Amino acid sequence: MSAGGQYSVFTDAAIIDALRTPWVDFNGALAEVSPIDLGIKVGREVLARAGVDPQGVDSVLAGSMAQASFDAYLLPRHIGLYSGVPQSVPALGVQRICATGFELLHQAAKQLDDGVQLALCVAAESMSRNPIAAYTHRGGFRLGASVQFKDFLWEALFDPAPGLDMIATADNLARRYGLSRETVDAYACDSHRRALAAQQTGWLAPEIVAVGHQTFDLDGYQPRGITLPRGVDTVSEDSHPRPAELAALARLRAVHQGGVQTAGNSCAVVDGAAAALVARTSACRDTPLALLRASAVVGVAPEFMGIGPAPAIRLLLQRSGLELNQIGRYEINEAQAAQVLAVAQELELDHSRLNVQGGSLALGHPLAASGLRLVLTLARQLREHNLRYGIAAACVGGGQGMALLIENPGWCA
Ligand SMILES: CC(C)(COP(=O)(O)OP(=O)(O)OC[C@H]1O[C@@H](n2cnc3c(N)ncnc32)[C@H](O)[C@@H]1OP(=O)(O)O)[C@@H](O)C(=O)NCCC(=O)NCCS
Repeated sequence: MSAGGQYSVFTDAAIIDALRTPWVDFNGALAEVSPIDLGIKVGREVLARAGVDPQGVDSVLAGSMAQASFDAYLLPRHIGLYSGVPQSVPALGVQRICATGFELLHQAAKQLDDGVQLALCVAAESMSRNPIAAYTHRGGFRLGASVQFKDFLWEALFDPAPGLDMIATADNLARRYGLSRETVDAYACDSHRRALAAQQTGWLAPEIVAVGHQTFDLDGYQPRGITLPRGVDTVSEDSHPRPAELAALARLRAVHQGGVQTAGNSCAVVDGAAAALVARTSACRDTPLALLRASAVVGVAPEFMGIGPAPAIRLLLQRSGLELNQIGRYEINEAQAAQVLAVAQELELDHSRLNVQGGSLALGHPLAASGLRLVLTLARQLREHNLRYGIAAACVGGGQGMALLIENPGWCA
């Protein structure tokens, strides 16, 4: 560890398998589903798909940012219990905002060194169910005093230290890196095109498990489950990807006057969940999805929070002894187009290796869950193209960056 960030190396950690729900637009078909139920869904599914007995899980790690249900404190525990994990197995809540998915894998890999054999990692986010909340009314309402209820979703995307919302931090990066609205929209257009192609060609489908009405039973306890809106039987595809022509993007109003970020070149707000199973490589029956090699996490200025992946990736490369060009694919979370472009510019990243199947601009960014999606999509690309190393990274509100190095277990020279 150093003042410049934290670096960790993992010697024998593998992701057996991972999957996710569709990412569904804010206030869409998943809006009434608790993130705990989305988490149980993916927890059960990843165990079933990997052919792993839940009774063999000896650690549950789960993350979610929004306090999106009254039983939110119990999210990790209930995901574990209702996924069929033994009652004696503890469950840990993990949060590093937009890098929570990476942090889950990091923590699971570290737990292997402490004797854990098989960890279930789940990240679930309901952006829709962010509460309308107040912190000051416990003592009642004084006559004439102002009512303090606010939209948690809107407020949570604002950092009071610099007095900026996340989009304004990307506008700051655009100014610092000389990124014009045209450049930012051109990147966004390409990213939307890539994601739409990935969806239309069926590339995304293998990582997605459809969500339908379902009851989750647990012997001796209350059943719970998923109910979709009337008329919706199942949700099987990401809902946000759409054709996004450059001219249409150019017509959108900037969120902040004088800024470059718009609704078309900022990440969409969506609901979704993802899960992964982590075990020792030596204990995997079959070839795992990916080997977890190392992680790096750094702090950056809150007003430039989006640049976080650049120093994190630099630290990861320096300490692992790898060169930029040895990395076959980069998946850098697209919080905002100006933000990912600033990172790419800072590192001189080749766009042909970056977010090749699209990213959060088109798919959306369910905060805690995005990290697992990025790693999953990265691992699939490494396998598909016989590439050895990949890096997934994300910026984090408040000013952090996290990056994860993975290796393709099937790679051959
Ligand atoms: C940018 C943001 C405020 C936009 O929210 P919104 O105004 O509710 O967005 P909408 O989906 O209603 O889109 C606004 C308009 O842009 C249009 N639009 C959105 N994406 C588009 C695209 N790809 N192509 C063309 N038009 C698009 C919509 O059709 C809509 O048009 P309308 O007003 O004529 O109906 C919101 O998406 C946001 O806050 N994103 C960032 C979230 C974030 O910061 N996450 C954390 C990152 S660190």
